[in-house]
Amino acid sequence: MAVHVNRVALIGTGFVGSSYAFALLNQGVTEELVLIDLNKEKSEGDAMDLNHGLAFAPTRTKIWYGDYTDCKKADIVVLCAGANQKPGETRLDLVAKNLRIFKSIVESVMESGFDGIFIVATNPVDILSYAVWKYSNLPQSRIIGSGTILDTARFRYLLGEHFEVDTRNVHAYIIGEHGDTELPVWSHADIGGNPIMETSGIEKAKLDEIFVNVRDAAYHIIERKGATYYGIAMGLVRLTKAILHNESSILTVSCYLDGEYGETDLYIGVPAVVGSEGIKKVVELNLNETEKQQFASSASVLKQTMQPFF
Ligand SMILES: NC(=O)c1ccc[n+]([C@@H]2O[C@H](COP(=O)([O-])OP(=O)(O)OC[C@H]3O[C@@H](n4cnc5c(N)ncnc54)[C@H](O)[C@@H]3O)[C@@H](O)[C@H]2O)c1
Repeated sequence: MAVHVNRVALIGTGFVGSSYAFALLNQGVTEELVLIDLNKEKSEGDAMDLNHGLAFAPTRTKIWYGDYTDCKKADIVVLCAGANQKPGETRLDLVAKNLRIFKSIVESVMESGFDGIFIVATNPVDILSYAVWKYSNLPQSRIIGSGTILDTARFRYLLGEHFEVDTRNVHAYIIGEHGDTELPVWSHADIGGNPIMETSGIEKAKLDEIFVNVRDAAYHIIERKGATYYGIAMGLVRLTKAILHNESSILTVSCYLDGEYGETDLYIGVPAVVGSEGIKKVVELNLNETEKQQFASSASVLKQTMQPFF
């Protein structure tokens, strides 16, 4: 009887990719991990380094540096390759540069015979997720962008700090573009079942301050250390687990909208149920009027930016 062996192929072993590989190994999520990068020496070095940690890992993971043919048997291909945000550069500035890189990567992955799920982390993540769908011809449900998974984690962290509650007990979402037009869904933010807006007495100025800190977090980190990678790496591991373990977990990811939230034909961050077949269902929140308008304007910025390319 053929036994299925979980395999993750990681393309792009820079700051984000190598942090993801390290977190994946430490959490014992997959049986096989193949590393691919334009810079072969880097991914070879990473494979060696990670293998030297196997003696201390929770489970055995086979790790090697490889090439696109290794994607054939992968359950998930994780895309962290490409150029990153330079100081002062928005995520949308990266569009043209990373679209070119993604076309050749996705074509190479598909030539291998890959028939699994793509996770996209490279920015601008919503637009690149759409591009991966177009370039791969896989069903929309099998392309998942990291979307606002990290922004939501930052939001929950800051709310947890403010209310002195474990971040895991804070339920609140950031939706929209992973970028400057994203929005907080205050109308559905709760701690331990208590809606924050109705029960906490928090002032509007404080709410605004928390959200601005979430939205601008990447800029603040990039100013200090040049790139952000640990938080997103852990978010990507969370997403990988939800797929490999068929969890049906609700995560805020970039997924294809086909009428949900009044939008069609774009990838954007919303809560969705994630399992072994990818996106099982988009969760539609009953947004208030302000949130509806903010979401529509975020979607419109994405559509305008994509328009010249598709
Ligand atoms: N989604 C999120 O929340 C989030 C958070 C942080 C960073 N990012 C994004 O992740 C991406 C990677 O960031 P980073 O800091 O790791 O950058 P990095 O420059 O450290 O790594 C990028 C890697 O991609 C490789 N690469 C470039 N072109 C390639 C190609 N054609 N084929 C294979 N590999 C190729 C490079 O050799 C490099 O190792 C950026 O787009 C960044 O904006 C996303």
